[in-house]
Amino acid sequence: MAEIAENGRTWLLSGPGSSYALHLAEADELVHLHWGPRIALADAEALAADPLPAYRPFESPLDGREEYPVEGGPRFTRPALSVRTGERRGTEWCFVSYETDDDALRLRFDDDGLAITLHYRMRGDVVERWVTLHNGGPAPVELLRADAATWTLPDRDGWRLSQLHGRWAAESLLTSAPLTYGEKVIGSRRGHTGHQHLPWVALDTDATEERGEVYGCALGWSGSWRIAVAQLPDARVQITGGAGHDDSGLLLLEPGRSYTTPVFAGLWSDGGFGGASRTWHAYQRAHVIPDADRDRPVLFNSWEATFFDISEEQQTALARRAAAIGVELFVVDDGWFGARTSDRAGLGDWTPNPDRFPHGLKPLADQVHGLGMRFGIWVEPEMVNPDSDLYRAHPDWVQYQPGRKRTEFRNQLVLNLAREDVQEYLWEQLHTLLSSAPVDYVKWDFNRCFTDAGWPGEPYPQRLWTDHTHALYALLDRLRAAHPEVAFESCSGGGGRIDLGVLSRTDQVWTSDNTDPLDRLAIQHGFSQVHPARVMAAWVTDSPNSQLNGRLSSLRYRFVSAMAGVLGVGGDLTEWSEEDLAEARAWVDLYKEIRPVVQHGDLYRLRPPAGGLSAVQYVLGDETVVLAWLQSQRYGEPVPALRLRGLDPAASYECRETGEVHRGAVLRHHGLRTGLRGDLDATVLRLCRI
Ligand code: GLA
Repeated sequence: MAEIAENGRTWLLSGPGSSYALHLAEADELVHLHWGPRIALADAEALAADPLPAYRPFESPLDGREEYPVEGGPRFTRPALSVRTGERRGTEWCFVSYETDDDALRLRFDDDGLAITLHYRMRGDVVERWVTLHNGGPAPVELLRADAATWTLPDRDGWRLSQLHGRWAAESLLTSAPLTYGEKVIGSRRGHTGHQHLPWVALDTDATEERGEVYGCALGWSGSWRIAVAQLPDARVQITGGAGHDDSGLLLLEPGRSYTTPVFAGLWSDGGFGGASRTWHAYQRAHVIPDADRDRPVLFNSWEATFFDISEEQQTALARRAAAIGVELFVVDDGWFGARTSDRAGLGDWTPNPDRFPHGLKPLADQVHGLGMRFGIWVEPEMVNPDSDLYRAHPDWVQYQPGRKRTEFRNQLVLNLAREDVQEYLWEQLHTLLSSAPVDYVKWDFNRCFTDAGWPGEPYPQRLWTDHTHALYALLDRLRAAHPEVAFESCSGGGGRIDLGVLSRTDQVWTSDNTDPLDRLAIQHGFSQVHPARVMAAWVTDSPNSQLNGRLSSLRYRFVSAMAGVLGVGGDLTEWSEEDLAEARAWVDLYKEIRPVVQHGDLYRLRPPAGGLSAVQYVLGDETVVLAWLQSQRYGEPVPALRLRGLDPAASYECRETGEVHRGAVLRHHGLRTGLRGDLDATVLRLCRI
């Protein structure tokens, strides 16, 4: 809901449990008033009546108070907007007008023909913010930096910053530390979201998992990005974020052209980190993820089973076994196209390898369909191997700097997707591919970072960074529109491209190349801070795992770990014993039963993965599912009971596994015994309200 004060200069946006307020001060300074519990318009007006402090020679009253600090004038904080026109830098805006509808607010400003619009939209208790810039003047304007938003937190002592950091095969690890004076900057200088940081931060002072105030911000952008969290000299905290890793230039806005920043979403919760996550999850299921109310199928992926050594016959053998254990979607990973028998060749040539698939993909797809499963393939469209027909024909289609060497990672170069001919080529190839065989699913990979991001002959080559991501989005949108029945997975060497931007155009993400079931619990714990189980793909692979740390774990432990998200199987099923296959079938059947609760329910993290017992609980209507893992137990050491959440204390719940009936109040206060013992044990417990 959006409200406006009579003075026409104070606005209040409210969701079911929170409010956000801002005010236009005398000289058109846009001042932040409130972000937190729900307030009334009269409260916002009272806050607005408090004048800005006076200027002092070494301090600016604007610092730490503005909604969108621009470069120029008496400001010393990091600007969200930095522009250059000819010899002049910075912005001096005048307020033009505002518009509101149900839950949205738009504020229009003008600086000599540069139209700046600040957008606000409430989605439940999530505030979405973004900015559009339109050059209505006669001269080009260079956008050096245009962040999506600056968030201002209330005055509190002792802010703590939480973030999700990592690396390849160890993404989304949660870490927290006290915020001190100055700035903490996270981001990606790599051209994709990156494994190193998810574009999310959370700030609190004393919150626990289920109690206390938490502020969270998440950016919807899949290219390079930056989020800066600043604790200013007077202890105010501001968070500024947007596309691009530095201030060296996003775009040249020619007269008549516009630019829209990504969305930077934010929320306030007083339900602790758990409450904040549940709000993030509900928001993404309702407003971000396409078709989120549809269940994601159990998939099989061939990568760890066959790597590059692929043939139609052997994929058919895998498909038969996959179907027999209840898999619903069979995905052929890397190695089916061009001369792709290793990572040295073939990327760029998106036609089936004639030795491996002499009649194309259709015969295999038909067999997979005949087995009752959907059919998926892997692609990595933004890349090219120098050893490919595409590169031999168009060596200038890659990002490169004139006269410098072209850095190869995994023997591949990055295509310059800012070029229209490259965009058209990829559209043609992928559209033809999806039209030539009955493909239901595309795993879209991105296996290296930008390094030599040059564009010889282009007057403003910096635009390549932003335009690449826009071209990726446009290509995905176009393919989705032309093939609405096809689902897409975002992958980037595991979890290198996970953000709200890509999630608005894909159906699930590949969480990590690390499929070790114990390592995964920490990755999943971090991932769940912001994103829901509905998009978190997890596979059961072989043990010990030749790619990973060699840890041995039972099929039970591997399945229960992967059942916390969208279950998949990625082991070499032709090597699994009849006993293993029968056990796998039982786990897949169980997953299908609990799937609605896992994929669409509310998540409660009962105990973090920290060595002993860890557990998560999902609640949907009358159904509750608990997944619990015991990492290790010393002899004689008791395993604690799990205090459940989200249950009605006055109701009774029957456990399907034990047949026992428990009182809700008892489960909440005293807990549920898991029966786990020893090392790497795991269980699934289903409870239903009676
Ligand atoms: C990336 C992905 C893997 C697999 C390989 C194929 O590393 O994360 O799952 O698809 O590429 O080359």
